[in-house]
Amino acid sequence: MMESGSIIEINGLYTQFGQHLIHRNINLHVLKGEVLSLVGGSGSGKTTLLRQMLSLETPTQGSVKIFGCSRYACNLDALKNIRHRSGVLFQQGALFSALTVFDNIALPMRELHCLDEALIRDLVMLKLKMVEVGAEHANKYPAELSGGMIKRVALARALALDPELLFLDEPTAGLDPSLSESIVNLIRTLREELTLTIVMVTHDLDTLAAISTRIAVLADQHIVALGKLQAVVQVDHPFIKDFFWGERGQNALRKYLSADQ
Ligand SMILES: Nc1ncnc2c1ncn2[C@@H]1O[C@H](COP(=O)(O)OP(=O)(O)OP(=O)(O)O)[C@@H](O)[C@H]1O
Ligand SMILES: [Mg+2]
Repeated sequence: MMESGSIIEINGLYTQFGQHLIHRNINLHVLKGEVLSLVGGSGSGKTTLLRQMLSLETPTQGSVKIFGCSRYACNLDALKNIRHRSGVLFQQGALFSALTVFDNIALPMRELHCLDEALIRDLVMLKLKMVEVGAEHANKYPAELSGGMIKRVALARALALDPELLFLDEPTAGLDPSLSESIVNLIRTLREELTLTIVMVTHDLDTLAAISTRIAVLADQHIVALGKLQAVVQVDHPFIKDFFWGERGQNALRKYLSADQ
């Protein structure tokens, strides 16, 4: 039975690639309306876990349910329905390089085969406006855009089908601080306006502290801490000490923890 209020339920999940054990007994529930951030070292299995939540990959052992459905227990229609209800901003290859901005955002809409081109046009322009990208960029190709603009357009594409659930894999990686901040503000506004549930992976402490309602720390192949920022930073673990209490971490923490009081 799906616990009421959880959109995703992961139970007893193990992932192994060859001899390499990535996840060991992961249990994690994503609650409706929250912004759950996943942090962990590079190669700790964050992207893999996101892909498993989306049913793009299968764990070695354990179960993943999304909207009450698990990959093998669901028929094709149910899986399609899951895809339509969730949007993803991938860490890599956020956009198709051979398609214009317009066509990138239109793609998921066209795949529905039930919207006419005039409506698609209006919807694409609306999404562009939402992410604050001017209409004059609609006919450009990804190679003609800045890094910050690519993230915005990728976000517009993730929002194309008005998802209830949004996955963001490193939404601010590689952006300078002011661009990161503008993406963070954008995500925050979208969440307020669209009542989204968000699962986000980020290395960036400012992004993490600014929008997460809960944080899950992935280390030693499992979740070593889960909860609000204030609680997670107190957990005695070498990764947490390093990540949150290193010099950069302390600066970000000081700003957000004191703003909370
Ligand atoms: N399909 C695959 N086959 C074999 N190994 C894989 C596969 N996918 C991921 N891995 C390995 O699993 C580990 C976790 O990868 P993953 O991409 O999930 O890490 P991550 O936490 O997202 O890292 P980063 O912060 O660098 O993005 C890595 O060692 C990676 O090489
Ligand atoms: Mg990753």
